[in-house]
Amino acid sequence: MRLNQTHTSNDIINLIKNPNINNDCQKKIKTTQEIFTKKQLWNIFLYEFKLMFGVSFIDTEQNTNNIKALFYYFLDDDAFFTCNNVKTDISKPSFKKGLMVVGGYGIGKTAYFKVFEKIFKSHSSLRFTSFGAKELVNKYEVCLTSVDKSYMINQTVRSGLSIDDINSERTANNFGKCEVIEEILFIQNEKKYRTFVTCNHTNPENNIEQTLLDLGKRYGGRSHDRFFEMFNIIEFTGKSMRR
Ligand SMILES: Nc1ncnc2c1ncn2[C@@H]1O[C@H](COP(=O)(O)OP(=O)(O)O)[C@@H](O)[C@H]1O
Ligand SMILES: [Mg+2]
Repeated sequence: MRLNQTHTSNDIINLIKNPNINNDCQKKIKTTQEIFTKKQLWNIFLYEFKLMFGVSFIDTEQNTNNIKALFYYFLDDDAFFTCNNVKTDISKPSFKKGLMVVGGYGIGKTAYFKVFEKIFKSHSSLRFTSFGAKELVNKYEVCLTSVDKSYMINQTVRSGLSIDDINSERTANNFGKCEVIEEILFIQNEKKYRTFVTCNHTNPENNIEQTLLDLGKRYGGRSHDRFFEMFNIIEFTGKSMRR
């Protein structure tokens, strides 16, 4: 780095201490990492988890592996790209895409997103709002007019949306059938809004390709294609933590 008049005394001291570091790069710290260090985020996570669920986070190898991918993703840490449960063979990973977390029952998919939602509430760049897929169908079904239906969908669509347990909802029936979740995801994708979804496996073998195909069957072939454009696909593994 060449020093010029815009460099502060701190830059100069840094340069003396770390002569090999390019300070211009150093200044370009990624947003999330400016807000939390990895350690801080982990400590807040453990604290909020206990507060929310009344039990301490159980740190099994699989739980840790599951949550690691979420941590690196939210921290914009490149270690995300090498997490073994990020299905890079199915969808090319990118921080610009949202997340689709697929796994068996009771392994923290819903719980972890609830905790992150709470932690990120006060940080606009990270904030997201969660809805259950069933809750959205219920909201849609009580709409009296088509204007109400559009309003409901427009009120749901946003930058930073998480839909929990997609494919668990019934097809909405309100003077005609409607796949509400598909409709919302379509708009989210059109607007390039960051979206997170969780989903249980559809088959006892926990085969992720099959689960994605089944989602495609339900929501349509174009949705299936869109999943790869919209989501990093993360597979959670392990035994149910429900007791
Ligand atoms: N790592 C964990 N440590 C302790 N309890 C956990 C952990 N993960 C999940 N649980 C418990 O299991 C319950 C079910 O988890 P949940 O996130 O609802 O599962 P699912 O993957 O089906 O969405 C949670 O309410 C929580 O009490
Ligand atoms: Mg769940």
